[in-house]
Amino acid sequence: TEKQTWSQRFESTLHPAIARFNASISFDIELIEYDITGSQAHAQMLAHTGIISPEEAKQLVTGLDKIRQEYRQGKFQPGIDAEDVHFAVEKRLTEIAGDVGKKLHTARSRNDQVGTDTRLYLRDQIQQIRQHLREFQAVLLDIAEKNIETLIPGYTHLQRAQPVSLAHHLLAYFQMAQRDLERLGDVYQRVNISPLGCGALAGTTFPIDRHYTAKLLHFDQIYANSLDGVSDRDFAIEFLCAASIIMVHLSRLSEEVILWSSEEFRFVTLKDSCATGSSIMPQKKNPDVPELVRGKTGRVFGHLQAMLVIIKGLPLAYNKDLQEDKEGIFDSVNTIKACLEAITILLREGLEFSPERLAQAVTEDFSNATDVADYLAARGVPFREAYNLVGKVVKTSIGAGKLLKDLTLEEWQQIHPAFAADIYEAISPYQVVAARNSYGGTGFAQVRQALLAARTQISAE
Ligand code: ARG
Repeated sequence: TEKQTWSQRFESTLHPAIARFNASISFDIELIEYDITGSQAHAQMLAHTGIISPEEAKQLVTGLDKIRQEYRQGKFQPGIDAEDVHFAVEKRLTEIAGDVGKKLHTARSRNDQVGTDTRLYLRDQIQQIRQHLREFQAVLLDIAEKNIETLIPGYTHLQRAQPVSLAHHLLAYFQMAQRDLERLGDVYQRVNISPLGCGALAGTTFPIDRHYTAKLLHFDQIYANSLDGVSDRDFAIEFLCAASIIMVHLSRLSEEVILWSSEEFRFVTLKDSCATGSSIMPQKKNPDVPELVRGKTGRVFGHLQAMLVIIKGLPLAYNKDLQEDKEGIFDSVNTIKACLEAITILLREGLEFSPERLAQAVTEDFSNATDVADYLAARGVPFREAYNLVGKVVKTSIGAGKLLKDLTLEEWQQIHPAFAADIYEAISPYQVVAARNSYGGTGFAQVRQALLAARTQISAE
Protein backbone atom coordinates (compact mmCIF):
# COMPACT_ATOMS: atom_id res chain seq x y z
CA THR A 1 0.00 0.00 0.00
CA GLU A 2 0.89 3.59 -0.48
CA LYS A 3 2.69 5.49 2.26
CA GLN A 4 0.71 7.61 4.67
CA THR A 5 1.16 11.36 4.48
CA TRP A 6 2.73 11.31 7.93
CA SER A 7 4.88 8.20 7.30
CA GLN A 8 8.29 9.92 7.59
CA ARG A 9 8.06 10.02 11.35
CA PHE A 10 7.13 6.33 11.52
CA GLU A 11 9.35 3.27 11.39
CA SER A 12 6.86 0.87 9.84
CA THR A 13 3.58 1.04 8.02
CA LEU A 14 0.10 0.82 9.46
CA HIS A 15 -1.46 -2.60 10.01
CA PRO A 16 -4.00 -2.97 7.20
CA ALA A 17 -6.87 -3.62 9.58
CA ILE A 18 -5.91 -0.56 11.61
CA ALA A 19 -5.70 1.49 8.42
CA ARG A 20 -9.25 0.48 7.66
CA PHE A 21 -10.33 1.14 11.23
CA ASN A 22 -8.77 4.58 11.21
CA ALA A 23 -9.94 5.70 7.79
CA SER A 24 -12.99 7.89 7.30
CA ILE A 25 -12.82 8.20 3.52
CA SER A 26 -15.69 5.76 3.01
CA PHE A 27 -18.09 8.29 4.53
CA ASP A 28 -16.37 11.68 4.65
CA ILE A 29 -16.15 11.66 0.85
CA GLU A 30 -19.59 13.26 1.30
CA LEU A 31 -17.68 16.42 2.28
CA ILE A 32 -15.48 16.55 -0.80
CA GLU A 33 -17.05 19.51 -2.55
CA TYR A 34 -17.10 21.51 0.67
CA ASP A 35 -13.50 20.51 1.30
CA ILE A 36 -12.52 21.78 -2.13
CA THR A 37 -14.38 25.05 -1.63
CA GLY A 38 -12.73 25.54 1.76
CA SER A 39 -9.29 24.79 0.33
CA GLN A 40 -9.79 27.23 -2.53
CA ALA A 41 -10.60 30.00 -0.06
CA HIS A 42 -7.58 29.05 2.01
CA ALA A 43 -5.31 29.15 -1.07
CA GLN A 44 -6.64 32.57 -2.05
CA MET A 45 -6.03 33.84 1.46
CA LEU A 46 -2.46 32.52 1.37
CA ALA A 47 -1.86 34.64 -1.72
CA HIS A 48 -3.75 37.64 -0.35
CA THR A 49 -1.45 37.68 2.68
CA GLY A 50 1.69 37.09 0.63
CA ILE A 51 2.34 33.66 2.14
CA ILE A 52 2.33 32.17 -1.36
CA SER A 53 2.40 33.92 -4.72
CA PRO A 54 -0.73 34.80 -6.71
CA GLU A 55 0.43 32.43 -9.44
CA GLU A 56 0.75 29.58 -6.97
CA ALA A 57 -2.70 30.28 -5.60
CA LYS A 58 -4.10 30.21 -9.11
CA GLN A 59 -2.57 26.82 -9.76
CA LEU A 60 -4.00 25.50 -6.53
CA VAL A 61 -7.47 26.83 -7.24
CA THR A 62 -7.44 25.48 -10.80
CA GLY A 63 -6.18 22.09 -9.65
CA LEU A 64 -8.92 21.92 -7.03
CA ASP A 65 -11.51 22.80 -9.67
CA LYS A 66 -10.21 19.90 -11.72
CA ILE A 67 -10.66 17.52 -8.78
CA ARG A 68 -14.22 18.72 -8.34
CA GLN A 69 -14.85 17.97 -12.00
CA GLU A 70 -13.25 14.55 -11.77
CA TYR A 71 -15.35 13.78 -8.73
CA ARG A 72 -18.57 14.84 -10.42
CA GLN A 73 -17.73 12.68 -13.42
CA GLY A 74 -17.16 9.72 -11.14
CA LYS A 75 -13.47 9.64 -12.01
CA PHE A 76 -12.12 10.43 -8.57
CA GLN A 77 -12.66 7.54 -6.18
CA PRO A 78 -9.99 7.59 -3.49
CA GLY A 79 -9.42 4.39 -1.49
CA ILE A 80 -8.52 3.56 2.09
CA ASP A 81 -4.89 4.60 1.53
CA ALA A 82 -5.95 8.20 1.49
CA GLU A 83 -7.23 7.89 5.08
CA ASP A 84 -9.69 10.74 4.79
CA VAL A 85 -11.12 13.17 2.25
CA HIS A 86 -8.66 15.91 3.22
CA PHE A 87 -5.58 13.80 2.50
CA ALA A 88 -7.23 12.39 -0.60
CA VAL A 89 -7.78 15.82 -2.10
CA GLU A 90 -4.32 17.06 -1.16
CA LYS A 91 -2.67 14.00 -2.71
CA ARG A 92 -4.64 14.30 -5.90
CA LEU A 93 -3.86 18.01 -6.06
CA THR A 94 -0.16 17.29 -5.90
CA GLU A 95 -0.54 14.77 -8.70
CA ILE A 96 -2.40 17.31 -10.83
CA ALA A 97 -0.58 20.56 -9.99
CA GLY A 98 2.84 19.21 -9.02
CA ASP A 99 4.92 20.46 -6.13
CA VAL A 100 2.84 23.60 -5.61
CA GLY A 101 0.12 21.26 -4.30
CA LYS A 102 2.35 20.66 -1.31
CA LYS A 103 1.94 24.31 -0.31
CA LEU A 104 -1.81 24.09 0.17
CA HIS A 105 -1.60 22.89 3.76
CA THR A 106 0.55 25.85 4.86
CA ALA A 107 -0.94 27.50 7.97
CA ARG A 108 -3.70 24.95 8.26
CA SER A 109 -4.47 21.69 10.02
CA ARG A 110 -6.98 19.00 9.22
CA ASN A 111 -8.59 19.99 12.50
CA ASP A 112 -9.70 23.45 11.41
CA GLN A 113 -10.21 22.06 7.91
CA VAL A 114 -12.67 19.34 8.90
CA GLY A 115 -14.51 21.79 11.14
CA THR A 116 -14.85 24.15 8.19
CA ASP A 117 -16.04 21.40 5.86
CA THR A 118 -18.66 20.13 8.29
CA ARG A 119 -20.05 23.60 8.78
CA LEU A 120 -20.18 24.31 5.04
CA TYR A 121 -21.98 21.00 4.54
CA LEU A 122 -24.47 21.58 7.31
CA ARG A 123 -25.14 25.14 6.24
CA ASP A 124 -26.07 23.90 2.80
CA GLN A 125 -28.16 21.03 4.12
CA ILE A 126 -30.03 23.23 6.59
CA GLN A 127 -31.20 25.40 3.72
CA GLN A 128 -32.30 22.32 1.79
CA ILE A 129 -34.21 20.97 4.76
CA ARG A 130 -35.86 24.35 5.26
CA GLN A 131 -37.02 24.21 1.66
CA HIS A 132 -38.48 20.73 2.24
CA LEU A 133 -40.27 22.09 5.31
CA ARG A 134 -41.81 24.88 3.25
CA GLU A 135 -43.14 22.37 0.75
CA PHE A 136 -44.56 20.29 3.58
CA GLN A 137 -46.23 23.43 4.94
CA ALA A 138 -47.61 24.33 1.52
CA VAL A 139 -49.38 21.00 1.12
CA LEU A 140 -50.80 21.21 4.65
CA LEU A 141 -52.18 24.64 3.74
CA ASP A 142 -53.67 23.39 0.48
CA ILE A 143 -55.56 20.61 2.24
CA ALA A 144 -56.58 22.91 5.07
CA GLU A 145 -57.99 25.51 2.69
CA LYS A 146 -60.28 22.89 1.16
CA ASN A 147 -61.43 21.62 4.53
CA ILE A 148 -62.30 24.59 6.69
CA GLU A 149 -65.81 23.27 7.26
CA THR A 150 -64.91 19.59 7.25
CA LEU A 151 -65.32 18.43 10.82
CA ILE A 152 -63.26 15.79 12.54
CA PRO A 153 -63.48 14.45 16.08
CA GLY A 154 -60.96 16.14 18.36
CA TYR A 155 -59.41 13.94 21.02
CA THR A 156 -57.84 14.12 24.42
CA HIS A 157 -56.53 10.86 25.87
CA LEU A 158 -57.53 9.46 22.47
CA GLN A 159 -61.13 9.76 23.67
CA ARG A 160 -63.59 11.85 21.69
CA ALA A 161 -63.46 15.32 23.25
CA GLN A 162 -64.82 18.10 21.05
CA PRO A 163 -65.11 18.19 17.26
CA VAL A 164 -62.78 20.50 15.37
CA SER A 165 -62.31 21.82 11.88
CA LEU A 166 -60.03 19.52 9.87
CA ALA A 167 -58.22 22.66 8.70
CA HIS A 168 -57.57 23.57 12.32
CA HIS A 169 -56.12 20.14 12.97
CA LEU A 170 -53.80 20.39 9.95
CA LEU A 171 -52.78 23.94 10.82
CA ALA A 172 -51.47 22.64 14.13
CA TYR A 173 -48.83 20.75 12.10
CA PHE A 174 -48.22 23.85 10.01
CA GLN A 175 -47.33 25.71 13.20
CA MET A 176 -44.97 22.95 14.32
CA ALA A 177 -43.23 23.09 10.95
CA GLN A 178 -43.02 26.87 11.29
CA ARG A 179 -41.18 26.53 14.60
CA ASP A 180 -38.94 23.92 12.99
CA LEU A 181 -38.08 26.37 10.24
CA GLU A 182 -37.31 29.08 12.74
CA ARG A 183 -35.33 26.72 14.93
CA LEU A 184 -33.17 25.70 11.98
CA GLY A 185 -32.67 29.38 11.24
CA ASP A 186 -31.37 29.84 14.79
CA VAL A 187 -29.09 26.82 14.52
CA TYR A 188 -27.78 28.18 11.24
CA GLN A 189 -26.38 31.20 13.05
CA ARG A 190 -24.21 28.96 15.22
CA VAL A 191 -23.25 26.75 12.29
CA ASN A 192 -22.14 29.70 10.27
CA ILE A 193 -19.01 30.55 12.26
CA SER A 194 -15.59 29.90 10.75
CA PRO A 195 -12.97 27.82 12.56
CA LEU A 196 -10.61 28.11 9.58
CA GLY A 197 -7.27 29.44 10.72
CA CYS A 198 -7.51 27.99 14.22
CA GLY A 199 -4.83 25.57 13.04
CA ALA A 200 -4.33 22.33 14.90
CA LEU A 201 -5.35 23.99 18.15
CA ALA A 202 -3.27 27.09 18.86
CA GLY A 203 -3.40 29.24 15.76
CA THR A 204 -0.47 29.57 13.37
CA THR A 205 2.89 31.30 13.02
CA PHE A 206 1.90 32.60 9.57
CA PRO A 207 0.35 36.05 9.07
CA ILE A 208 -3.00 34.61 7.93
CA ASP A 209 -6.21 36.58 7.56
CA ARG A 210 -9.10 34.62 9.03
CA HIS A 211 -11.60 37.33 8.19
CA TYR A 212 -10.63 37.04 4.55
CA THR A 213 -11.39 33.30 4.31
CA ALA A 214 -14.55 33.77 6.37
CA LYS A 215 -15.71 36.38 3.90
CA LEU A 216 -14.91 34.23 0.87
CA LEU A 217 -16.82 31.34 2.40
CA HIS A 218 -19.74 33.55 3.51
CA PHE A 219 -19.32 32.84 7.19
CA ASP A 220 -21.01 35.45 9.42
CA GLN A 221 -18.40 35.25 12.15
CA ILE A 222 -15.14 33.58 13.10
CA TYR A 223 -14.31 31.66 16.25
CA ALA A 224 -12.64 33.96 18.77
CA ASN A 225 -10.65 31.16 20.43
CA SER A 226 -8.63 28.64 18.46
CA LEU A 227 -9.00 25.81 20.98
CA ASP A 228 -12.75 26.29 20.99
CA GLY A 229 -12.85 26.62 17.21
CA VAL A 230 -11.34 23.20 16.50
CA SER A 231 -13.11 21.27 19.24
CA ASP A 232 -16.58 22.80 19.25
CA ARG A 233 -19.36 20.55 18.00
CA ASP A 234 -22.19 22.40 19.76
CA PHE A 235 -23.51 23.36 16.36
CA ALA A 236 -23.84 19.67 15.47
CA ILE A 237 -25.63 18.90 18.73
CA GLU A 238 -27.98 21.79 18.10
CA PHE A 239 -28.64 20.65 14.59
CA LEU A 240 -29.39 17.10 15.71
CA CYS A 241 -31.67 18.50 18.37
CA ALA A 242 -33.60 20.53 15.79
CA ALA A 243 -33.60 17.48 13.53
CA SER A 244 -35.00 15.34 16.33
CA ILE A 245 -37.80 17.80 16.99
CA ILE A 246 -38.71 17.77 13.29
CA MET A 247 -38.89 13.99 13.49
CA VAL A 248 -41.08 14.22 16.60
CA HIS A 249 -43.54 16.29 14.63
CA LEU A 250 -43.49 14.06 11.56
CA SER A 251 -43.85 11.00 13.76
CA ARG A 252 -46.91 12.37 15.54
CA LEU A 253 -48.56 13.17 12.22
CA SER A 254 -47.63 9.72 10.96
CA GLU A 255 -49.18 8.09 13.99
CA GLU A 256 -52.42 9.97 13.33
CA VAL A 257 -52.49 8.97 9.68
CA ILE A 258 -51.93 5.34 10.70
CA LEU A 259 -54.83 5.54 13.15
CA TRP A 260 -57.05 7.40 10.72
CA SER A 261 -56.53 4.81 8.00
CA SER A 262 -57.45 1.90 10.25
CA GLU A 263 -60.82 0.18 10.04
CA GLU A 264 -61.57 1.50 13.53
CA PHE A 265 -61.39 5.13 12.36
CA ARG A 266 -61.79 5.05 8.55
CA PHE A 267 -61.19 8.82 8.41
CA VAL A 268 -58.82 8.49 5.47
CA THR A 269 -58.15 6.01 2.74
CA LEU A 270 -54.69 5.43 1.36
CA LYS A 271 -54.25 5.60 -2.38
CA ASP A 272 -52.45 2.80 -4.10
CA SER A 273 -49.48 5.02 -4.99
CA CYS A 274 -48.55 5.38 -1.32
CA ALA A 275 -49.62 2.11 0.28
CA THR A 276 -48.40 -1.46 0.15
CA GLY A 277 -49.92 -4.90 0.37
CA SER A 278 -49.30 -8.01 2.39
CA SER A 279 -47.54 -11.14 1.19
CA ILE A 280 -50.18 -13.38 2.71
CA MET A 281 -53.34 -11.42 3.48
CA PRO A 282 -54.84 -10.43 0.14
CA GLN A 283 -57.16 -7.80 1.61
CA LYS A 284 -54.43 -5.71 3.28
CA LYS A 285 -53.44 -2.17 2.43
CA ASN A 286 -50.76 -0.98 4.79
CA PRO A 287 -49.64 2.55 5.70
CA ASP A 288 -45.93 1.84 5.24
CA VAL A 289 -44.97 5.44 4.57
CA PRO A 290 -46.10 6.91 7.90
CA GLU A 291 -44.90 3.79 9.68
CA LEU A 292 -41.42 4.20 8.22
CA VAL A 293 -41.34 7.87 9.14
CA ARG A 294 -42.37 6.99 12.69
CA GLY A 295 -39.72 4.29 12.77
CA LYS A 296 -36.92 6.40 11.33
CA THR A 297 -37.45 8.88 14.12
CA GLY A 298 -35.50 6.49 16.33
CA ARG A 299 -32.30 6.80 14.36
CA VAL A 300 -32.25 10.59 14.48
CA PHE A 301 -32.84 10.55 18.26
CA GLY A 302 -30.03 8.01 18.46
CA HIS A 303 -27.64 10.26 16.56
CA LEU A 304 -28.39 13.14 18.93
CA GLN A 305 -27.69 10.93 21.93
CA ALA A 306 -24.52 9.59 20.32
CA MET A 307 -23.23 13.08 19.61
CA LEU A 308 -23.77 14.22 23.18
CA VAL A 309 -21.93 11.20 24.48
CA ILE A 310 -19.06 11.57 21.98
CA ILE A 311 -18.40 15.12 23.15
CA LYS A 312 -18.99 14.92 26.87
CA GLY A 313 -15.69 13.43 27.99
CA LEU A 314 -13.34 15.05 25.49
CA PRO A 315 -10.46 17.12 26.78
CA LEU A 316 -9.52 20.09 24.60
CA ALA A 317 -8.83 20.30 21.76
CA TYR A 318 -9.20 17.92 18.79
CA ASN A 319 -9.53 14.21 19.53
CA LYS A 320 -10.09 11.50 16.96
CA ASP A 321 -13.41 10.76 18.64
CA LEU A 322 -14.66 13.76 16.70
CA GLN A 323 -14.40 11.78 13.49
CA GLU A 324 -17.45 9.92 14.82
CA ASP A 325 -19.59 13.06 14.43
CA LYS A 326 -20.01 12.67 10.69
CA GLU A 327 -22.06 9.58 10.02
CA GLY A 328 -24.72 10.65 12.50
CA ILE A 329 -24.96 14.08 10.92
CA PHE A 330 -25.10 12.68 7.38
CA ASP A 331 -27.65 10.04 8.27
CA SER A 332 -29.84 12.55 10.09
CA VAL A 333 -29.74 14.94 7.15
CA ASN A 334 -30.59 12.17 4.69
CA THR A 335 -33.32 10.76 6.92
CA ILE A 336 -34.99 14.11 7.48
CA LYS A 337 -34.96 14.96 3.79
CA ALA A 338 -36.33 11.56 2.80
CA CYS A 339 -39.06 11.67 5.46
CA LEU A 340 -40.15 15.20 4.59
CA GLU A 341 -40.28 14.31 0.94
CA ALA A 342 -42.26 11.12 1.53
CA ILE A 343 -44.78 12.67 3.88
CA THR A 344 -45.30 15.62 1.55
CA ILE A 345 -46.08 13.23 -1.31
CA LEU A 346 -48.33 11.18 0.97
CA LEU A 347 -50.32 14.27 1.90
CA ARG A 348 -50.43 15.66 -1.60
CA GLU A 349 -51.54 12.58 -3.44
CA GLY A 350 -51.59 9.51 -1.26
CA LEU A 351 -54.32 10.29 1.17
CA GLU A 352 -58.02 10.89 0.81
CA PHE A 353 -60.16 12.08 3.68
CA SER A 354 -63.61 10.46 3.81
CA PRO A 355 -66.11 13.31 4.21
CA GLU A 356 -69.14 11.07 4.86
CA ARG A 357 -67.38 9.07 7.50
CA LEU A 358 -66.07 12.24 9.19
CA ALA A 359 -69.52 13.85 9.10
CA GLN A 360 -70.93 10.73 10.70
CA ALA A 361 -68.14 10.53 13.28
CA VAL A 362 -68.89 13.94 14.74
CA THR A 363 -72.55 13.11 15.36
CA GLU A 364 -72.26 9.70 17.00
CA ASP A 365 -71.02 10.60 20.45
CA PHE A 366 -71.26 13.00 23.38
CA SER A 367 -68.58 15.39 22.20
CA ASN A 368 -71.15 18.21 22.32
CA ALA A 369 -71.66 17.78 26.08
CA THR A 370 -69.42 20.76 26.89
CA ASP A 371 -71.67 22.87 24.71
CA VAL A 372 -74.74 21.94 26.76
CA ALA A 373 -72.93 23.02 29.90
CA ASP A 374 -71.77 26.21 28.17
CA TYR A 375 -75.38 26.83 27.06
CA LEU A 376 -76.57 26.82 30.65
CA ALA A 377 -73.56 28.74 31.93
CA ALA A 378 -74.25 31.46 29.36
CA ARG A 379 -77.75 31.69 30.82
CA GLY A 380 -76.58 32.32 34.35
CA VAL A 381 -76.13 28.78 35.73
CA PRO A 382 -72.73 28.54 37.46
CA PHE A 383 -70.54 26.41 35.19
CA ARG A 384 -69.76 23.67 37.73
CA GLU A 385 -73.46 23.25 38.45
CA ALA A 386 -74.25 23.06 34.74
CA TYR A 387 -71.39 20.59 34.25
CA ASN A 388 -72.76 18.28 36.97
CA LEU A 389 -76.24 18.48 35.50
CA VAL A 390 -75.01 17.55 32.02
CA GLY A 391 -72.95 14.72 33.49
CA LYS A 392 -76.18 13.20 34.79
CA VAL A 393 -77.88 13.75 31.44
CA VAL A 394 -75.05 11.92 29.67
CA LYS A 395 -75.32 9.05 32.12
CA THR A 396 -79.08 8.60 31.70
CA SER A 397 -78.82 9.06 27.91
CA ILE A 398 -76.21 6.33 27.63
CA GLY A 399 -78.54 4.12 29.68
CA ALA A 400 -81.43 4.92 27.35
CA GLY A 401 -79.31 4.41 24.22
CA LYS A 402 -79.80 8.00 23.14
CA LEU A 403 -77.58 10.88 22.12
CA LEU A 404 -78.09 14.43 23.37
CA LYS A 405 -79.70 15.47 20.08
CA ASP A 406 -82.40 12.82 20.65
CA LEU A 407 -83.78 14.39 23.83
CA THR A 408 -87.17 16.09 23.47
CA LEU A 409 -87.64 19.71 24.43
CA GLU A 410 -89.77 18.57 27.37
CA GLU A 411 -86.93 16.38 28.58
CA TRP A 412 -84.49 19.27 28.27
CA GLN A 413 -86.81 21.55 30.19
CA GLN A 414 -87.27 18.97 32.93
CA ILE A 415 -83.51 18.98 33.32
CA HIS A 416 -83.43 22.77 33.54
CA PRO A 417 -86.01 25.45 32.66
CA ALA A 418 -83.38 27.55 30.89
CA PHE A 419 -83.35 25.15 27.96
CA ALA A 420 -85.24 26.41 24.91
CA ALA A 421 -85.75 25.24 21.32
CA ASP A 422 -82.39 26.70 20.27
CA ILE A 423 -80.57 23.96 22.23
CA TYR A 424 -80.68 21.71 19.17
CA GLU A 425 -78.89 24.25 17.03
CA ALA A 426 -76.41 24.94 19.83
CA ILE A 427 -75.33 21.30 20.02
CA SER A 428 -75.17 20.55 16.31
CA PRO A 429 -71.59 19.68 15.31
CA TYR A 430 -71.30 22.62 12.92
CA GLN A 431 -72.39 25.11 15.59
CA VAL A 432 -70.25 23.46 18.25
CA VAL A 433 -67.19 24.11 16.10
CA ALA A 434 -68.27 27.52 14.84
CA ALA A 435 -68.88 28.75 18.37
CA ARG A 436 -65.29 28.16 19.57
CA ASN A 437 -64.33 31.50 18.21
CA SER A 438 -61.78 32.50 20.83
CA TYR A 439 -58.39 33.52 19.44
CA GLY A 440 -56.57 30.44 18.13
CA GLY A 441 -59.67 28.29 18.51
CA THR A 442 -61.34 26.05 15.95
CA GLY A 443 -64.20 28.44 15.15
CA PHE A 444 -64.42 28.87 11.37
CA ALA A 445 -63.75 32.59 11.57
CA GLN A 446 -60.58 31.90 13.56
CA VAL A 447 -59.49 29.19 11.16
CA ARG A 448 -59.96 31.52 8.20
CA GLN A 449 -57.81 34.11 9.95
CA ALA A 450 -55.19 31.49 10.73
CA LEU A 451 -55.11 30.32 7.13
CA LEU A 452 -54.64 33.86 5.94
CA ALA A 453 -51.81 34.42 8.39
CA ALA A 454 -50.21 31.14 7.36
CA ARG A 455 -50.35 32.06 3.67
CA THR A 456 -48.74 35.40 4.39
CA GLN A 457 -46.07 33.72 6.48
CA ILE A 458 -45.25 31.26 3.73
CA SER A 459 -44.99 33.86 1.00
CA ALA A 460 -42.84 36.12 3.20
CA GLU A 461 -40.25 33.36 3.64
N1 ARG B 1 -10.79 12.57 9.44
C1 ARG B 1 -10.59 13.42 10.56
C2 ARG B 1 -11.94 13.72 11.21
O1 ARG B 1 -12.90 13.51 10.58
C3 ARG B 1 -9.98 14.70 10.13
C4 ARG B 1 -9.20 15.39 11.22
C5 ARG B 1 -8.06 14.55 11.59
N2 ARG B 1 -7.18 15.23 12.45
C6 ARG B 1 -6.23 14.58 13.15
N3 ARG B 1 -5.50 15.28 13.91
N4 ARG B 1 -6.08 13.29 13.07
O2 ARG B 1 -12.02 14.13 12.35
